[in-house]
This record gives sequence, structure tokens and C-alpha cells, in this order.
Amino acid sequence: MASFLVSLLLLVLQTYAAPSELIKAGFGSARDSIDPDPVPPVNVSEDSTSSPPPGTSKRTPHSIIIGVRKGGTRALLEMLDIHPEVAVAATEVHFFDWDENYAKGLEWYRDLMPYSYPHQITIEKTPGYFTSPLAPERICAMNSSIKLLLILRDPTERVISDYTQVYFNRLENHKPVQAIENLLVRNGALNIRYKAIQRSLYDVHMRNWLKHFPLEQIHIVNGDALIHDPLPELQKVERFLNLPPRIVSSNFYFNQTKGFYCIRSDGRERCLHESKGRPHPSVNSTVLQQLRSYLREHNRSFFRMVKRTFSWQ
Ligand code: A3P
Repeated sequence: MASFLVSLLLLVLQTYAAPSELIKAGFGSARDSIDPDPVPPVNVSEDSTSSPPPGTSKRTPHSIIIGVRKGGTRALLEMLDIHPEVAVAATEVHFFDWDENYAKGLEWYRDLMPYSYPHQITIEKTPGYFTSPLAPERICAMNSSIKLLLILRDPTERVISDYTQVYFNRLENHKPVQAIENLLVRNGALNIRYKAIQRSLYDVHMRNWLKHFPLEQIHIVNGDALIHDPLPELQKVERFLNLPPRIVSSNFYFNQTKGFYCIRSDGRERCLHESKGRPHPSVNSTVLQQLRSYLREHNRSFFRMVKRTFSWQ
């Protein structure tokens, strides 16, 4: 924590716009977010030149976590990795939404998947897929019966999380940052062209997926519920993927310092990286209200589309 704060302070000092913005953005009231045990690469760093474990092979995924960015995609993937019949991909490949990757072909994509045993299923996650206009059709062309996982959280909260991630990325890259209100509001009105808002229009993106996949093929994980009580959400995913129930309550423990559940499996305890579960800035209440009311109609339309409601209004 101390080193994180020191490096954050250094970044702030090096970034001309940062000090006043940081204060304005309310980062002073950060909740304690020590993460002493960043996620080590699990099942991840297979070197393509090393020989594979006997009996394993690389296969295109049986399931993809398609998003949403900042919905809890990393937590979901790491938690599913507890399951002995799951092999997770190490990196986000952006195969279906980056033309230059797609042009390399399915063989290239498969080669980036982990080695898995025949009884295992392979899962990869690329959060950008949910909002990608290209991904649904291309994934369908690869495997029209693939099972898709979509983890969503309160879209207003997601906007703030998205902003926070970009904010810290910019600080790290010594780029100037802005207070969230400056991005959310333009000329006195809500700036609906702000990408973080666009990505929270769940109905708009879902419509694109439903053109290519039936609703039953897309399991929606409640990202807010996953934060507060991960097991029930994971049990639903096990059922959706036809996996035997193997994830149990002792696989999770609440880390008071991080303020989130962490994972216990294979005799190891680990929390997600410190970039997951960051404190959010406090947002001007009038602006927040504007954002919530703009998203309300989109949320309702999304609920109708997926025949299900969530606690976000
Ligand atoms: P915040 O950092 O804004 O709190 P993604 O992995 O898709 O980028 O999502 C990141 C979000 O996952 C975090 O957003 C956090 O709220 C959420 N999350 C869910 N379960 C978590 C866990 N056990 N540990 C840390 N973050 C978790």
C-alpha cells in the first residue's frame, strides 16, 4: 500500500493537471485498497515452444466472457478458474474485434488458448466484445453454439469505474487528467458521446448480440451480486456451462483490507490485482442524477430485452 501511495504521489507530482483534479475527483477519501497478493499468472504462460503436458491440446473456447468492461470480468474469470474442469486463457486476445488479429486466422487464435485436458472446457475473456459491432457475427461464424457469459453491473457505477480506470492509466502514462464532471457534462448538458456512457447503454449493445445468438445462449452474471456474494453467481454459471458443482464457499474469503472477496484454491490465497476494486471519485450529485435518469430508459429497454430485471433502476 505504502509503495502504491508513493508511486501514485510521484505520478501526481509529475502530471501537471493532476493535483487539483485529484482533490476535485475525491480520491483523497480513498478506501484502503491494499492488495498484497496480485493475481499470479495461472494456467497462463505456456510458452508455445515448450512441450505441452501429455494428453492436453489447445482448442478454441467453449465459452467466452464477452464483457462488459469494468463489469467484473477479471473476477469472474479468476473465480471460474477454481473449477478443475475449466482452463482459462491468459490474455485478452481481441481476436474478433481487432481486424489485424482476425486476419491472422483461427489457428493463430487457438494457439493463444491454454492447453487443456479433454474433460476441461476452455474459457477466454475479452471485455471489449460486448460493445464491439464486429464481435457477435464473427464469434457466431466460428461457433454458433458457443456459450456466452456477460457480466453486468449498475451502468452508472460502471461509468464511474470506467472513468477511474482511464484516469489511472493516464496518470501512469504521464498524460493530463480531467475531473469526471468535465467529461460527463458538455455545454451544460450530459455528454452522451462520452465513451464511458456509450458503453453503459446495455440495450444498444445487447440488440446486436441478439441478432446472432438466442437469449438462452447468453448467461448474464449479476456483477453487483458477484461482489457481495460470489458463490451463488458462480453456481449459476456452473449450471449454464453444464459443469459439475465444484466451486464451494470455502473457495472465497472476505479480505477486510481490500474490501472484496479473494480466492482460496489449490492451497493458495489470492486477491485480484490492485487495479481491481479501486476507490471511485465522488461525483457531483446533480450530474450523477442526470446520468442516472439518462440511463433509466436504456435500462428498462434492456430488462425487456433479456426478460429479467436488475436492482439498477
Ligand atoms: P472497480 O475497480 O471500479 O471497483 P473488470 O475486471 O471487468 O475490469 O472489472 C473490475 C471490477 O470488478 C472492479 O471495479 C470491482 O468492482 C469488480 N470486482 C468484482 N469482484 C471483485 C473482487 N473479488 N475483487 C476485486 N474487484 C472485484
